Amino acid sequence: MRKPLIAGNWKMNTKLEEAENLVRAMLAELDSIESVEKVLCPPFISLAAVKGLIKDTSIKLGAQNMYFEDKGAYTGEISPPMLIGLCDFVILGHSERRQYFAETDELINKKVKKALESGLTPILCVGESPEENEAGRTEEKITMQINAGLAGISPTSQLIIAYEPIWAIGTGKAATGKQANATISLIRGILANLWNKETAKAVRILYGGSVTSSNIDEFISEPDIDGALVGGASLKADEFVGIVRQTSDLKSTR
Ligand code: 13P
Repeated sequence: MRKPLIAGNWKMNTKLEEAENLVRAMLAELDSIESVEKVLCPPFISLAAVKGLIKDTSIKLGAQNMYFEDKGAYTGEISPPMLIGLCDFVILGHSERRQYFAETDELINKKVKKALESGLTPILCVGESPEENEAGRTEEKITMQINAGLAGISPTSQLIIAYEPIWAIGTGKAATGKQANATISLIRGILANLWNKETAKAVRILYGGSVTSSNIDEFISEPDIDGALVGGASLKADEFVGIVRQTSDLKSTR
């Protein structure tokens, strides 16, 4: 059984105090929902404070990025040993990192390897652009990103994949549940080819892109979708709690 997971990617939002207030506003309710794994991914500078607030709760913490070296002259970067003890998860290869910071599949592959070696659970993001989608090249793009991102990595279910079509991110135009499930089941097929069927079945795969408390049901009721990576709606306490609560209600009645 794959435990459903809802992760909030706060992106470059919230100053320290805002981050603390946001966590306080949803802490008790989130903690009380046990059948879903809840992961908050605030900006680096708020990780320690959020860690303090969620101590002794069932809420987990993730980083939004990291570098693949342990330490050294890499101005501005954050290393895996800095995250260990603070975070359990790390988002890698988000389309915004690929687009604005020129991250390549090769770099992302190094980060995924390093995260796994360090005991962090990578949330590897993949997704096609609007142009690729319109040209019918979704499968080709996703296959390439998964094979390159996981090259040289042994089969493991200590990895999460997030399918985030770029055309659905921050646009309010989410994929349909059926569309997302079709691509996610394709991703399971790619994992089965690259690794094996058993691991492909065990890996949790999330949908991301304009997920809200109004459309989460559509995704969660699909068989291959194990949760969501939520951007904008994770910055509103009632929205995020609503998404987690509906996930819990739906998955437990399946
Ligand atoms: P939105 O939920 O704001 O569309 O963002 C999705 C996303 O990029 C999560 O990583």
